[in-house]
Amino acid sequence: MDYDRPLFYRVMRYAAEAERDTIDMVSGSPDWEAPESLRRGLREYADGDADSFQYPPSAGLRELRTEIAERRNVDRRQVIVTNGTGEANYLGMAAALDRDRGEEVILTDPVYPYYPGKTDLLGGTASFVPTERDGQLDPEKVREAASEDTGLIVVNTPNNPTGAVYPRETMEALVEVAEANDAVLLADEVYDHFDFSGRFESALTIDSDHRIVTSGFSKSLAITGFRVGYVILPEELVDPARTRHMLVNVATSRPAQAAVLTALRETSPEYYAEVRDLLRDRIETFTDALDAAGAEYTTPEGAFYVLARFEDFPGTLSNVERLIDEAGVAGMPGEAFGSAREDWFRFALVTPRAEEAADRLAAFFD
Ligand SMILES: Cc1ncc(COP(=O)(O)O)c(C=O)c1O
Repeated sequence: MDYDRPLFYRVMRYAAEAERDTIDMVSGSPDWEAPESLRRGLREYADGDADSFQYPPSAGLRELRTEIAERRNVDRRQVIVTNGTGEANYLGMAAALDRDRGEEVILTDPVYPYYPGKTDLLGGTASFVPTERDGQLDPEKVREAASEDTGLIVVNTPNNPTGAVYPRETMEALVEVAEANDAVLLADEVYDHFDFSGRFESALTIDSDHRIVTSGFSKSLAITGFRVGYVILPEELVDPARTRHMLVNVATSRPAQAAVLTALRETSPEYYAEVRDLLRDRIETFTDALDAAGAEYTTPEGAFYVLARFEDFPGTLSNVERLIDEAGVAGMPGEAFGSAREDWFRFALVTPRAEEAADRLAAFFD
């Protein structure tokens, strides 16, 4: 996999330069509104005094860390507020590999491409365990792949790109595999608010010194541009992660943290429920139309991506470009997510035009 120029950017640029109207289903940037309280928090911050415009504590605003710790039922000391889940993943992966208990990183295939990218960056060696057809991960396969060389196992639930939500048994078994091999399980839970199956289980509910959980507010508050996330670490990994965060970033943007804090305190559960309803509708209309197009597809249990496959039309970059030019629909090539789904395309349901997109696909493949 080539990370110098992520495929993602290439496809976005191609779609933006397309001559015809193109429905953008490439990125994971929500098209729905952030909660009103988020905007209010930002406005209130803008009217604050000069002091509040200065450096925040490096690990994050104390009130925000407290709020996160209470919600996730952990000690505030274990929480570092980061520049998005992206940085949280980097800090967590670095902290795990810095333990020097093995440089192998077990990842799934399909995979969120930034994990292998970060593995390379951190000098680890990626090893891929294929998921099942429905996107579920068989922990026995992870157990077979793991050894004393394994320092880290990284999973993502709810999953991008498969939409799978791992049940409690899977999370328990993965923590157990990490413990048995003196490795660390990192669970990226950035889509934790987008579970349609009701069986999402945070790795935090399994008590262990061998697991790290990352998450953030890019998706749950529809603010990918704000860059606020967090990592929850076992006690012994907190200090090295805090140091790395401080040396690389000094801190995470303070206005963004302040706005997130207000939003966390003041957003009602209905906001999250309404977004889930919106996505459920989109999943249904998009997959119905994919049926009409004769495509094979996944129905996500969580997150907001659909993988689809069309006969004799593999999900290569050149076919992605053809779909942009000839159908007016932009998706991601399956090959961006490892080798298991090379024949597939990934469509992000971040547009109100999802149904129209599927109709366009149906017309193209007719
Ligand atoms: C699985 C996964 N992890 C992390 C991220 C990055 O999240 P953030 O914007 O919080 O850095 C994404 C973004 O699409 C993602 O899909």
